[in-house]
Amino acid sequence: MAIKTDLFDLTGKVALVTGGASGIGLAIARAFLEHGARVIVGSRTQSKVDDAVRQLDAIIPNDDDDLTVGGVSLDVQSEDSINHAVKKAMDLLGGLHIVVNSAGIMCKKPTFDLTDQEANQLYDIHVTGALRVSQAAGHIFREQHDGCIINIASIGSYVSLTEVTAYACAKSAMMGLTHSLANEWAKYGIRTNGIAPGFIPTDLNRKLIEGTDRGRRILEHTPMARFGDSAEIAGAAVYLASPAASFVNGVTIPVDGGYLACGAGDSVAPWEKDA
Ligand code: NAI
Repeated sequence: MAIKTDLFDLTGKVALVTGGASGIGLAIARAFLEHGARVIVGSRTQSKVDDAVRQLDAIIPNDDDDLTVGGVSLDVQSEDSINHAVKKAMDLLGGLHIVVNSAGIMCKKPTFDLTDQEANQLYDIHVTGALRVSQAAGHIFREQHDGCIINIASIGSYVSLTEVTAYACAKSAMMGLTHSLANEWAKYGIRTNGIAPGFIPTDLNRKLIEGTDRGRRILEHTPMARFGDSAEIAGAAVYLASPAASFVNGVTIPVDGGYLACGAGDSVAPWEKDA
C-alpha cells in the first residue's frame, strides 16, 4: 500500500457539522477548514449559524469561485430539515464526504423527576437525530463509496454522572449507533467513529461545572486537573476524518484529560488552589 504523506490533509472533502454553530461543533468546523476541507455548519437558530459562518469565513475567506464555508438552519429532529441541509451542502459546496453529529442538549434533574417527554426529546436529538443525519448522508456516501461519520458521544457513555440519566442513556446509545453503522456500512466505503469528550465548558454545561461543587468533584477526578477546550476535541475529529484513520472504524476516542483512567484522584480544582 502506498505511503500517504499528507496524513491529516482534508483537501477536497466537504463536511456537514450538526450543532456546528457553537462549542465543540464550531471548533471541529474550524479545524476541518484549517486542514483543507470545506464546511457547512447546521444548527437550529439561523442567527447563530450566520454568526458562526462569519467567524469561520474570517479564517479562510470564501472567494467567489470556490466557496469554503456555508451555513444552514438545521433541526435534527426533522427529516425535511436534514434533507434540506444535505441538499444545501451538495448545491453550495458540490459534495459531501464527512458528517459530524454534534447537535445536543442537556437535561440535569433527579431521575425520579425526569419526564417521558424530556427523556424522549433528549434521545430524539442525540441518537435518532444522529441516525437521521447519517442515513441522509449515508445514501450519498454509499453511492460514491466514500464517507465518514463522527458521532460526539461523552464520558457519560462509559460512566455514570449523577442526575443526567437521560443524557447518559442517549450518549451510551450513541456508541451503539457508532458500532452498528461501522459494522453495517463499512462495505459501502463508510467509516463510522465517535469521540467522547471530557468536560468542556460550553453553553451546554458551563453553569453546571464552572465554579460549582460538581465541577470541583469532576476536577478532583481529572488527572490533568482542568477542563478541556473545544479546540482540544477538534484534533480527534480531524484525525478520524483524515487519511491517517483510513483503517479506523467503530471506535470512540475519549478526549478527557485522563478522567476515564482515574480511580481515586487527588487533583485540585484551580479555584480551590487560589482560595
Ligand atoms: P453547545 O450547546 O455549544 O452545542 C450544541 C449545539 O447543538 C448548539 O449549537 C445547539 O443549538 C445545537 N442543537 C441542539 N438541538 C439541536 C437540534 N434539534 N438540531 C440541530 N442543532 C441542535 O454544546 P457542546 O458542548 O458544544 O455540545 C456539542 C456536543 O458535544 C453535544 O452532543 C454534547 O452532548 C457533546 N458533549 C459535550 C461535552 C461538554 O463537556 N461540553 C462533553 C461530552 C459531550
